Amino acid sequence: MNKPVDLPIGFSEEEDSNTSANPSFETILSARLSRRGVLRGGVGTAATALFGSAVLAGCGGGDDDPAPAPTETLLGFSAVSKSLLDSVVVPAGYTATAIYALGDPLAAGVADYRNDGTDTQFENRAGDHHDGMEWFGLSASGAPSATAVDRGLLAVNHEATTDENRSSFFLHADGGTSTLPRPAAEVDKELAIHGVSVVEVRKTGAAWATVKDSSFNRRLTTLSDVEIAGPARGNALLVTKHSTTGTMTRGTLNNCGTGKTPWGSFVTGEENWAGYFTRPVGDNAARGNDKSVTALNRYGRAEGVASRHGWESAGAGDIYARWTNAKTGVSTDGSDDYRNEMNGMGYVVELDAYDKTKPAKKRSALGRFAHESAAFAKPVAGQPVVCYQGDDARNEYIYRFVSTALWDAADANPADRMATGDKYLDSGKLYAAKFNADGTGEWLELSITTPAVAGYATYPFADQADVIVNSRIAGDAVGATKMDRPEWCGVHPGTGEVYFTLTNNSNRRVEPTGTTQLAPDSANPRVYTDIKGTATSQQGNPNGHILRLKEGTGTGFTWDVYLFASESGAPGAINLSSLTADQDFSSPDGLVFSPSTGICWIQTDDGAYTDVTNCMMLAAVPGQVGDGAKKTLSYSRTAGGPLAVDTYVGKTPTAATLKRFLVGPVGCEITGLCETPDGKAMFVNIQHPGETTAQANIADPTKFTSHWPGNTGYGAGGATARPRSATIVITKNDGGRIGS
Ligand code: FEO
Ligand code: CA
Ligand code: CA
Repeated sequence: MNKPVDLPIGFSEEEDSNTSANPSFETILSARLSRRGVLRGGVGTAATALFGSAVLAGCGGGDDDPAPAPTETLLGFSAVSKSLLDSVVVPAGYTATAIYALGDPLAAGVADYRNDGTDTQFENRAGDHHDGMEWFGLSASGAPSATAVDRGLLAVNHEATTDENRSSFFLHADGGTSTLPRPAAEVDKELAIHGVSVVEVRKTGAAWATVKDSSFNRRLTTLSDVEIAGPARGNALLVTKHSTTGTMTRGTLNNCGTGKTPWGSFVTGEENWAGYFTRPVGDNAARGNDKSVTALNRYGRAEGVASRHGWESAGAGDIYARWTNAKTGVSTDGSDDYRNEMNGMGYVVELDAYDKTKPAKKRSALGRFAHESAAFAKPVAGQPVVCYQGDDARNEYIYRFVSTALWDAADANPADRMATGDKYLDSGKLYAAKFNADGTGEWLELSITTPAVAGYATYPFADQADVIVNSRIAGDAVGATKMDRPEWCGVHPGTGEVYFTLTNNSNRRVEPTGTTQLAPDSANPRVYTDIKGTATSQQGNPNGHILRLKEGTGTGFTWDVYLFASESGAPGAINLSSLTADQDFSSPDGLVFSPSTGICWIQTDDGAYTDVTNCMMLAAVPGQVGDGAKKTLSYSRTAGGPLAVDTYVGKTPTAATLKRFLVGPVGCEITGLCETPDGKAMFVNIQHPGETTAQANIADPTKFTSHWPGNTGYGAGGATARPRSATIVITKNDGGRIGS
């Protein structure tokens, strides 16, 4: 599709060169990358990359597109160096301050967090592992406001908790119990620190702080009542002892990425929920080896698998028993046990951050998988609402939802946000993406009327609800492309193109074996060996990449790889985007376009490059699909001759278009980002600092790998504090916008 777009000043627009640029050839076989960029093993010579020549087209910004202020240079800051410090490092001229950490009180009467394992009342405290986050402005009178810059609500995901051998050890005074059964007193804390929080924040003078007793403050935990909405509501697959009508479930779990709907509500993605359930040996036979066994296996719950925390062991009570995903009852419909309980997890959940009286709803029409973020395209009056999503697991799919209802601009500020969600998110078409080797792609509809779905022998779908609840199986049926772990996605505010982080994939191999390894393909083209430190060998695509796509007409699109993550010292056959020392990164995860500046913020959740640097956040000003060149990666094989893989590499970034902005403390990931509408206060989450601490060292603070944010003076514990996930606020000392 070559429709004209308005690009803000500072963005470039170039001809699509996907099919016309000359290919270059890169030899990767056995390229082994050490931290000094020394190649080990039999290594071919990497040819110089040939990039299409860049032609900058200066375009005026559209009225509502983000654009630099007249005196401002985006990415004008000095790049932050890679860091192993136990602190948050930001550029000179910026300040980062923790304002909201695990355990902080959310109601009057709740004591300050002692952070020594003796705290209680977690239902009224900040949860753990802060992740995706969105801003909801408030006027001085407390009304929803699209322009407020000094008062608002943060809706924050609390994805998980720092654990080892089942126990969330920083939550318990002695590190907790790793053996089964686990004590209910420990499990009750852990049930409460998952979910979502909504917290009011205010700026007084130059300082931001949470409002402990705000009437807006809210928690969703693993026990909150949540409605099932959309095609799965009331379906036989959702019937449980707790909801015999299949219309309700309890809680939301492993909330990872977020999104904000065009009508101003909050959406949160349920990611690695499957791991919280156990399924006993013998359950396949108890189910008569029916198709539910196929579904459970496909979603990672083969019989005999253990749960992450052992919550099911804490007692006979219903709130514990539900984590055993087994047929134990005699009913034919599951109304007397929790055989279907896991079908209540795995959705995009919508809530109204401004109104805690309204229950959250699981929007099943958007599919059931390991959801990361949900990124909405800019709505167009009279057109469907479109939302993009990724399924974060190795070899899983990228999805698109297209609403049945057509966008009415009057819905941008509705009286009832949840009812508006009913209108746009409960009916529509769900698609999975297929990426072709020629730089094109196609959205494949997941419908009970799609022949490949209706006739799928591996799993006979009963109805559309069954297709939705088992989206992954439907994606298998239509032949969607298996990706290198799709994490967040974001829609470029100028071009409308969609960016997906593909964080890494240890299961790519030039010559795959078994059922889980895959050969490289055009959209997931890299396979190499990365030596971490002196010993650890990381195979597959250890560093990840960022793919982007441009919608065409109907179900077609074109795509390229915006950036290949890599260490800067890697040979050109691996460092395909020619990243410099000020730009190199590994395992992109969070990705958010600033509504104010249009900067693309890239956040990492990495384990591959962490011997050199802690996780980080970079600022980017991307071009568009086709601004680089086609390359052909050439792999030697022991059988079958050489393997040539065509791919499409985005234009090489410059210091003006990609620069490291922040590095976090030891053991953390950087995730979640929102800002005030003026772009002058940015909120970012530091998740699981110190997660590399051994549980056995809980009594010896000198052995904690991080003490952040206590070591900045935040909360109890000081320089020997237990580490805490936390939200920081970033401001520019001269009052400018973040990223300038
Ligand atoms: Fe929760 Fe895939 O990151
Ligand atoms: Ca993530
Ligand atoms: Ca992650």
